[in-house]
Amino acid sequence: MVSTSLLFLLVIEQAPLVLTLQPFLGNKPEYIIGVPREKQHLYASNEPDLTKWHCLSGDNIVLNLNQINDGVCDCPDGSDEPGTAACEDDVFQKVAEQSSEMGKYFFCDNKNFISRYIRISEVADGICDCCDCSDEMLSGYKPFDVGSDCSQLKNEFDAMASAELLSYQKGKMALNALEKKYGVKEDVSVSEFSTEKDKQQLSDKITSLSNKLAKEKTKLYQARRNYFGQLEIQDPILYRFEQLNISVLASEVYSSFAMVSLVSKSYEDIVKILNELSEGYESSLNDKVVNDNVKKFRKLKRQAERAKITADSAIDEEQRENLCLFFTKEVPKIFLERKSEHSLRYVIGKSNFVQALIVGKINYTKDILEYVSEFRSVMDDISRNYNVNFQDAAVKAAVDSYNHYLSEHGTLTKETNMRPSAILLELLNEMTSFVNENAPKILPSDTAESDQGANDHHNGTFGGLRNWLWAGLPKIDLFSSRANLITLEKQFRSYEAAVAQLDIKLEFKKAYQKILHDTPSEGNDATAAELTELLKRMGSQSYCIEDVLDSYSYKICLQKPMVEGTICQSEDKSGGKKVLIGHFKTLGFDADLNMNKYVEHLKATYGESSDLTSNLASMREGDDKAQYYIFGNLNELNNGLVLQYEDGDQCWNGPRRSATVFVRCSDTFKIRSVHEVTKCNYIFDVTGPMGCNKTFEYEPPKFNLGN
Ligand SMILES: *[C@@H]1O[C@H](CO)[C@@H](O)[C@H](O)[C@H]1NC(C)=O
Ligand SMILES: *[C@@H]1O[C@H](CO)[C@@H](O)[C@H](O)[C@H]1NC(C)=O
Ligand SMILES: *[C@@H]1O[C@H](CO)[C@@H](O)[C@H](O)[C@H]1NC(C)=O
Ligand SMILES: *[C@@H]1O[C@H](CO)[C@@H](O)[C@H](O)[C@H]1NC(C)=O
Repeated sequence: MVSTSLLFLLVIEQAPLVLTLQPFLGNKPEYIIGVPREKQHLYASNEPDLTKWHCLSGDNIVLNLNQINDGVCDCPDGSDEPGTAACEDDVFQKVAEQSSEMGKYFFCDNKNFISRYIRISEVADGICDCCDCSDEMLSGYKPFDVGSDCSQLKNEFDAMASAELLSYQKGKMALNALEKKYGVKEDVSVSEFSTEKDKQQLSDKITSLSNKLAKEKTKLYQARRNYFGQLEIQDPILYRFEQLNISVLASEVYSSFAMVSLVSKSYEDIVKILNELSEGYESSLNDKVVNDNVKKFRKLKRQAERAKITADSAIDEEQRENLCLFFTKEVPKIFLERKSEHSLRYVIGKSNFVQALIVGKINYTKDILEYVSEFRSVMDDISRNYNVNFQDAAVKAAVDSYNHYLSEHGTLTKETNMRPSAILLELLNEMTSFVNENAPKILPSDTAESDQGANDHHNGTFGGLRNWLWAGLPKIDLFSSRANLITLEKQFRSYEAAVAQLDIKLEFKKAYQKILHDTPSEGNDATAAELTELLKRMGSQSYCIEDVLDSYSYKICLQKPMVEGTICQSEDKSGGKKVLIGHFKTLGFDADLNMNKYVEHLKATYGESSDLTSNLASMREGDDKAQYYIFGNLNELNNGLVLQYEDGDQCWNGPRRSATVFVRCSDTFKIRSVHEVTKCNYIFDVTGPMGCNKTFEYEPPKFNLGN
């Protein structure tokens, strides 16, 4: 839950990160920035004079210790500037690259997360590439992009790894079930012992996590009581505001409005199709179905115009953003800071307007949906019954567009529930009455405000008096009276975060436990032979995976014998064109492709809202090319299964079609995506149990959690 007070705290607490050049005073600093721990000793003085040091390349260039990381490149090998970018563009660069002692990468210690190397060019560029920001520590100016901090990344990593392992367990279980179903392994050799041990360990872990969670919850409860207790006394209005569940309200509004704009879009699209049809079709062909339906459409359209039905999804989207800002920023600001750039009348008016807008708009969307449904019945009839022989291009185009339309909007029907949810109405009501009741207590009244706060306090009216009081009250006092509250709140929020984190951990462990419980005992390792056998047996029952992507339907089939297995592509409509992409040739395992695909998957699944994946890439010290990934061996949960299909239909002006099918571990078969890599050569991303590595054992990365 996004705490409104948290927003406030963020504003107050984000003191600029002050980074100054460390004064070295001739002594070696404790820790040389940019150097891994095991190489720190290289920076101890290596001269009789303990304030001196010489470049690592052995050129006998002697420097003062305070010249290390001083931003000037003194050593030909760049070894005096491991923590700054000073040697990067230097004439010595080449030499530096050849020198092996200190590499050309910067070492991020990243305490609380995972140490890694980054390129020197990323050092001192104003962006914290290391989660501990050590790459910007010596740059002498304030980084403009601080990125994620290390403990936050650690939490994100744990959540990601748990989700991955959970999905792996499900996939493995599904693979076992498949093998059982197709009789691949009748003679399962049981290793009860290890599973029993696993189960025991897991249940111990769950017990200890539960205990910890209970303790943290007690602390949270205490902290919450402290905070709200104080808040109630010191700022009763804010206290009541905190009870309003405004983030729940905001997210309800957000999702309801997503629906509203979806309906608008579906209205716009269908009207466009019908408009084009109605302008372009040949009425003289006398296709009765088409002529009657176009007439019906025109009548409906006039009706809609009379009823003032309009739909504009772009405006809906904009309104949605604005409403969200209103609830998450504008309103909280009023009660947290006790001020607004707008007049009281405006604040109250807007709040009432917003309520009416939301309820009215959602209500109104029902009417739009009615028309959509009428228009669709027009197009349904035309699609089904128009006379193909008349060859009317406009009709054909409309039918094509309508098919496309259905694949996009098909799930919206007249029955789609467009009523505002009860919880939305309730929260909205609460919130509006709250603003009506309390805004006048904390904002200056409008009459006073329009007098610019001049001498009107002598008037003795309530508003005037209040305004005078507020004007006389320095803003600092307002904050300092909340200072101890802020500490209390911070504590309470941190416990809240800890509890949420533990909750997630526990949930995953429990899900594991259920899977372990449901999984029959493990058997032998899955080998290529077993997988081949499984494919064959599934093939004997003509097993196919089928999915629609980009208005093409793809079918990947296993057949008996396997060489008969095929991939076909057809246009996703009746009578659509069909193309053979290939026949099954071989099965293999490709570790490199797996690594690429796995990273792609992580980025797509977890990368959107977080820096996590970019912080999991490291340069390999001592190796010129390789960037590699430091997520332990998570990628090995996939076995890297690749099926090759060749000898498909000839491409026009090109080779025969062929495809590589990469299978990622999952409990469900699905074709996720297809790309044409080179002309007429495709790569399919497929998920399914066969992609699971049955002997996988998770080895986490080396976290830097020490002191
Ligand atoms: C709103 O918050 C109160 C207490 O803060 C809680 O008891 C209630 O369940 C919340 N309601 C919703 C809908 O989240
Ligand atoms: C919603 O629409 C119905 C008619 O469609 C109307 O009777 C009702 O008053 C409307 N409710 C609101 C809150 O606008
Ligand atoms: C005081 O109140 C009177 C009427 O109530 C109003 O006309 C006047 O503008 C107010 N302000 C001052 C400064 O007198
Ligand atoms: C499966 O996992 C194990 C251990 O995690 C690993 O050693 C092995 O190479 C993996 N197999 C494949 C095919 O990736």
